Amino acid sequence: MGRIFASLYDLMLRRAEHACLRAWRRDLLLDVGGEVLEIGAGTGLDLPHYRRDAITRLVLAEPDAAMRRRLARCVERENWSRAELADARAESLPFPDASFDVVVSTLVLCSVADPALVLSEVRRVLRATGRFLLIEHVAAAPGSRLRKWQARLDPIWRRCAGGCRLARETTRSIEQAGFSIAALASTELAGVPPFVRPAIRGSAMRS
Ligand SMILES: C[S@@+](CC[C@H](N)C(=O)[O-])C[C@H]1O[C@@H](n2cnc3c(N)ncnc32)[C@H](O)[C@@H]1O
Repeated sequence: MGRIFASLYDLMLRRAEHACLRAWRRDLLLDVGGEVLEIGAGTGLDLPHYRRDAITRLVLAEPDAAMRRRLARCVERENWSRAELADARAESLPFPDASFDVVVSTLVLCSVADPALVLSEVRRVLRATGRFLLIEHVAAAPGSRLRKWQARLDPIWRRCAGGCRLARETTRSIEQAGFSIAALASTELAGVPPFVRPAIRGSAMRS
């Protein structure tokens, strides 16, 4: 992903964090407890929202070295001494089957190389009653003007935004990976360009 992207990341997200993301992260993580894995943890923007009293293990997986350095600083700043940092791609998670109660992914499935493989890994490491919590930006409605713009802009956006893809059909991928999506809502990000606005947030259960 690179040092420049990592150093600009929090700044690039600042408007969206104020407009909605900070509140969404807080809501998403409000009742999270037990053994928790976050994939693509980035610079640690979710970290302040985890409840220390309810979490028995917190693993923050992040494959990019520049992002991981910032994540380590965030862990220190937030005084999360128990958090474990892992250099791990979500396509190949270095954890046994059924080792987590919750897996968290915020703005990650747009960036991974192979979403289907990532989702099968998430499912594998989750316990049978486990929850997959997510906030992701996604493809606009098929055939819409916005979807056409996403397709046009995707090649440029990808290069400028750390490999991020604009038009992933993430809800469908999650369902196809064997999750139930009853608690996953479609929504709109604020504070970002229109082609990044279509989003989903909530939870998916192993079904
Ligand atoms: C847009 S950032 C999101 C960071 C953070 N989750 C957040 O909410 O701000 C995407 C993150 O996914 C990470 N990433 C990219 N490819 C990945 C992969 N294959 N597995 C896990 N993480 C990946 C990137 O390094 C980056 O930190």
